[in-house]
This record gives sequence, structure tokens and C-alpha cells, in this order.
Amino acid sequence: MLTNRQLFLLHIGQTSSSPLMIEIEKAEGVFMYGPDGEKYLDLVSGVSVSNTGHRHPKVVEAIKKQIDAYLHLMVYGELIQNPQVRYAERLTGMLPEHLSVCYFVNSGSEAVEGALKLAKKFTGKSNMIFFRNSYHGSTHGALSVQGSELYKNAFRPLLPDTTQIDFNDLSSLDCIDNHTACVIVEPVQAEAGVIYPVPGFLEEIRKRCSERGALLIFDEVQTGFGRTGQMFALERFGIVPDILILAKALGGGMPLGAFISSKEIMSGLCSNPELGHITTFGGHPVCCAAGLASLEVILEENLPAKCAEKSDFLRRELNHSLIKEIRGEGLLLAVEVDKPESVQYIVSHAPEYGLILDFFLFCKTAFRIAPPLTISIDEIGQACSQLKLLLDDTLKNTASA
Ligand SMILES: Cc1ncc(COP(=O)(O)O)c(C=O)c1O
Repeated sequence: MLTNRQLFLLHIGQTSSSPLMIEIEKAEGVFMYGPDGEKYLDLVSGVSVSNTGHRHPKVVEAIKKQIDAYLHLMVYGELIQNPQVRYAERLTGMLPEHLSVCYFVNSGSEAVEGALKLAKKFTGKSNMIFFRNSYHGSTHGALSVQGSELYKNAFRPLLPDTTQIDFNDLSSLDCIDNHTACVIVEPVQAEAGVIYPVPGFLEEIRKRCSERGALLIFDEVQTGFGRTGQMFALERFGIVPDILILAKALGGGMPLGAFISSKEIMSGLCSNPELGHITTFGGHPVCCAAGLASLEVILEENLPAKCAEKSDFLRRELNHSLIKEIRGEGLLLAVEVDKPESVQYIVSHAPEYGLILDFFLFCKTAFRIAPPLTISIDEIGQACSQLKLLLDDTLKNTASA
């Protein structure tokens, strides 16, 4: 019989020539476990998905309850399903008044597709502005507004009428004009290596969009649900976008995405033509039930505020000569080191130190720390001790690289 490792290489579509290939048998809280008793502290959360940890009991309970009621029933938008409507009510109740209607889909990329279509439909314009080093997903539309030529080139032609500008460059905002349908922006650029906007930058985008009749789209797929120390990053900046995109932690570990807007804007998808955006599995009842339960945990346990405290502790503990800077707030952190070879070494050797770490797509000199927000202070201490040993090892082994 073939091993899982062999089957993985034979039958699973690969995304790189050097996958981590760590076999996981079980995951609970902040830990993942291998088949031979290996134990890994998860410092990635499946890339900002497992904000309430793996298999939080309340999330598992909600999933089981929903499974006993019904699974998939019908394409999105036809039948009234309790988990969908309750989750939409809860979510929109926490957001600025204007963001009152939620369109559930399957993923972040699909939410981006829906948001871009909605902006074109509402404004009647087609130009879409996006930022260098932004990541919005891998489908054709999302790729068209991704700020990296490296990942786009092989897949051209992509969507026409898109304009790339520089994040944190106020002068580039002159591009927002009467032809602009939307500006899509991550309020904190995640894959760029956790880059915060300079003061006034998002405000200026908001102002120009309003003046020119363009819609402002915030992609909070990574920053949502407490990750950066507030429930949503928009709270930190005090800016209300016209469309908000959520995914990742939205489903509490289940696949779910959403784009959220006003009743007026969202109504564009149900006339001229009707069925302007449809999806079979979007807003799956089990995913919505899981997501709602996870959101309740985030609120009950006050995870966004605690996440800020944990972040401070981590920064104090994680001191090492290899570290140049730790960027970010809350538990979305980029640890900047000396060179890409060090990052390569650190991420690939982390499992030997009982840690799971990850790269950033567009920042090769930093590695990611984004554990479940439920991580305890003791576990952060443990992670930092192990990380410092790993960094010592890295220093020795990459000195001549
Ligand atoms: C900011 C941002 N937007 C969109 C996406 C795409 O989400 P998905 O992978 O669920 O399609 C991602 C995924 O990493 C992301 O980080």
C-alpha cells in the first residue's frame, strides 16, 4: 500500500516544487499532531483562518447541530436558511450602518469577483485601481487586480482596464478619476509583508472615491475577525468602504467568503440581468453555522483586545540578533531578518523545532507569525523559546549564503 506521502505527490495538485509535506493527523487548539506523535505549535492558522484555534468546541458543536438539520439545499439566494440569515444579521450588526447586506460565497477570491462585478454594475464604469504587492486571490478577476507581475504574466490576457498604483504614495491617487469603477485595497497589506498605510492615505482614497463616484472596496480577508487587534481593521482607521470583503476566519475553519455592501449597491445583482451573481455552494449552512459560532467565541473571549496584549508580549520575548524588525499589530506579524536564504531556512526547518511558520508572497526577507488568537501567553513564551533556538541554528547555517 502506498504511503500518504507517496499519494500526496502522485495525486494531489501541487503548488510548488518544495511543499512542506508534514503529515497531520489531528489538530486541536493551537497544536497540530502528526501520525508518530509529532506536535507542532501552529503559528500560521492556515493563513489567518483558525482565529479561534483548531476545532474550538463551540464551533464543532454548531457544525454537528447543523449537520443534524440539513446540509446543502439549493443554490444561494432562493431558500431562507437559518444559519445564513442569523450570521448575516450578526455580522452586519457589528459593521457600520451602510454595510447592511451580506452576499455569502465560497472563498476570498469569489468574494473579490463578486465585489468587482458589483462595482462595475453600480457605477457603470470599468476601470479598477489596485496596489502594487496586493493579493486578492487566484481567480482571473482577482489575479487581474493583484499587484505582482510575476504571478500575472503567465496567465495573460487578464481583465482589461485595470490600473496598478503604489501603496502609501499619495501622488498616485491622482489616477482615481471619472472612469474609475472602484479602488480595491487591503487596509493592511498582508502578503506584501504586513505593510500599514501611512496616516491619511486611506482617508485620501476614501475622499477621492466619493468625489469621483468610484466605489471603495476593502479586502479584509486576512485582517478580519480580530487578527490585527480590532474586530475589523476598518475600525482602526475609521473609514467605511462601499464594499467589504471577508473570508478566511469568516467560516471558523470552514470555507466561506462574503462581500458586504448597502442595500442600494447590492440590488445591482438582482436586476438587469437578474441572477447577476450566482453560486451553488456559497453560504453553505454548515459553514455559516461554524462561522457564527466562531464569531461568538471571538466576542465572548474578547479576542481582538487580548490579541493586542499578546502581540506586545511576543514582541518583548522575541529578541534575536537575526531580527531586524517585527512589523504589524495584533497577531498578524512579519518578522524581518537579514536575507531571503534565512527565511527559507527558518520556515523549512521550523517543524524540527515543533513550529509551523510561513512565507509571505511578496516579501522574501520576512516570515509570518499569525497564530490562532486563542494562543495563551505560556504558549507564546514556548513558541519564542523554540524560535530563538531556530534562529541560532539559522545564523550558523546561513552565515556564508
Ligand atoms: C487579502 C486576501 N484577499 C483575498 C484572498 C483570496 O482568498 P481565497 O484564498 O479564499 O480565495 C486572500 C488569500 O490569501 C487574501 O490574503
